[in-house]
Amino acid sequence: MERLRTIFREEWLEALRHWQRRGEISLFEEVNLILTRSVARWSALPLDEISAEGLCRELSGMVENAGGFGPNTWLALWRRRRTERFVGSVVRRIRSGELTLGENAPIRIIAEHRDETGNLLEISDAAVEIINILRPVVAIGRYIVFTAMALNEQQQWADRFAAGDEASLEAFAEEVRRLYPFFPFIGGVARETFEWHGYRIDKGAWVLLDLHGTNHDPRRFPAPDTFSLDRDIGWRMQGFDFVPHGGGDASVTHRCPGEAVTVALMKEAIRVLTRSMTYEITDKVSPLDLSRIPALPKKGLRMRDIRRSDTGAGQ
Ligand code: HEM
Repeated sequence: MERLRTIFREEWLEALRHWQRRGEISLFEEVNLILTRSVARWSALPLDEISAEGLCRELSGMVENAGGFGPNTWLALWRRRRTERFVGSVVRRIRSGELTLGENAPIRIIAEHRDETGNLLEISDAAVEIINILRPVVAIGRYIVFTAMALNEQQQWADRFAAGDEASLEAFAEEVRRLYPFFPFIGGVARETFEWHGYRIDKGAWVLLDLHGTNHDPRRFPAPDTFSLDRDIGWRMQGFDFVPHGGGDASVTHRCPGEAVTVALMKEAIRVLTRSMTYEITDKVSPLDLSRIPALPKKGLRMRDIRRSDTGAGQ
C-alpha cells in the first residue's frame, strides 16, 4: 500500500507539471490516468502493447457502465474482452519467460500462481484476477473527485490540511465515502429461505443491499446529509453500519478488500490538493446527478489556473 501511495504521489506531481501549461483540465479524466499509470507501475504491468490512455479508457469504462444496460454496457463488455486479451497475452509472456519480472511483481505472482492441485490458473482466469486489481484502483478516481468537491465546500478543513493537519485526514476521507454516492446498492442471492420484518425471502431470490441508504440512515448517522468529522466510522469497522463497499467482514465474506488502499490514496490526494498545488474550480460545481449510476459531477470537475505550490507542510 505504501509503495502504491508513493508511486501515486510521484505520478500526480509529474502530471501537475503538464497541467500548469494547460488552460483547463477535467480532474476525473486526469486522476483516472494517474491511477492507471500508478497501478500499472505498481503491479509491473508493461504498457507496451497498450498505451496508458487506452488502458485507462478501458478500465474506467468498466466502472462507468457498471450500473447500466444497453449499448454503452455492450461497448464496455467488448472493451473488457479486449483488455482481457491484452492482459492474457502478458500472462502468457511471463510464463514463457519472454517477459522477465521481479519475483515479487504482483502480476507475476498471479500469472505463476498454482491452485491447491498444483496447476497454473487458466490464462483467462489469471487475466481476470489481474484486471480485478487494476480496475478498482482506477475506480478510486471518482472518490478523489468527491474529495476535491468536499474540500471546495469545507474550506476550513482545506485550510487545516494545507497547514499540515494529518490527524483528521482519515476522518475526512471516510466522511466523503459515507456521504457521496458511489454504488447505491449491490445484489446477492439468498442462501436460505428466511423471514425479515414480515417479508419472506425465498432461497435463491435476488436481494439488494442498500449501501447509500444504510450510510444515510439517521438512526446511525444523525443529520445524515451534513458533512461531519465527528462520526465514528472507518474501513476498520467490518460490519453492516458503514457500508460504502459492501457489508460484512472482508476476510470471510465478499466485502471489498480494497477499502484501506482506497482511503490511503484519498488521503494522499487531500495532501497533494491542499499542499502541493493551487487551482480554481471553474464555475459552480454542478450538483451530482443521482439518476446516473455511479454518480459524477458534470464534466468530471473542471479546474483551471493550476500551479505547483509547496506549502512544505506535513510532506
Ligand atoms: C473505488 C473504490 C471501491 C469501491 C466503491 C468498491 C466497491 C466494491 C463492492 C461494492 C464490492 C462487492 C462487495 C460485496 O459483494 O459484498 C467490491 C468487491 C471487491 N473489491 Fe472493491 N471497491 C473499491 C476499491 C477496491 C480496490 C482499490 C480494490 C483492490 C485493489 C478492490 C478489490 C475488490 C475485490 C477483489 C472484490 C471482490 C471480493 C470478493 O468477491 O470476495 N476494490 N468492491
